[in-house]
Amino acid sequence: MRRRRVAILISGGGSNMLALARDMAAADHPAEVCLVLANRPEAGGLVRARELGLPVAAVDHRAFGADRAAFEAAMARPLAESGAEILCLAGFMRVLTPRFIAAWEGRMLNIHPSILPLFPGLDTHARALAAGMAVHGCTVHEVTAELDSGPILGQAVIAVEAGDTPASLAARLLPMEHRLYPAVLRRFASGDRRPVAILG
Ligand code: GRF
Repeated sequence: MRRRRVAILISGGGSNMLALARDMAAADHPAEVCLVLANRPEAGGLVRARELGLPVAAVDHRAFGADRAAFEAAMARPLAESGAEILCLAGFMRVLTPRFIAAWEGRMLNIHPSILPLFPGLDTHARALAAGMAVHGCTVHEVTAELDSGPILGQAVIAVEAGDTPASLAARLLPMEHRLYPAVLRRFASGDRRPVAILG
């Protein structure tokens, strides 16, 4: 069966991109990486993607100022040229317009560092601690126009430990993200939308 073509969008170090790319290197994976695209040319993830021999591109959002539509039109070109069929947002920190999302509806995934629908938006680790949560986690979901609220495709959970700080919580959660996202993409790329649950 032909492998689905996946573009991964990053803004920074791309640790989730690496986890996805490494998993897609396996012969039995239903998908393959067709592009790693960053909104910042200096994104460290681009260096790591090149080291893996992956196709990369950068579209600097700062060149477009407040014109989100123009930035997204500039991203659409390398995405179309790559033949991308699925988009994985992985540490991608730009808010996308409803128009761009509509063009990819049902084919765009994101990983968010909280147990959605708890704590959409930023600073999730600090907010989970402030709320006195006994557990924390991450969610992979389909991207819809409403931020961090599309259909849930998988979640991984960890215990909050005494003395945890936002940094220690984030550090303990990241390896769980690297387990969850690849597991979800394998199912999603094979047309299976049953949610993945990982209890760390
Ligand atoms: C991670 O916490 C991820 O959940 C969020 O961005 C952070 C950095 O991700 N989306 P990465 O290391 O760049 O993949």
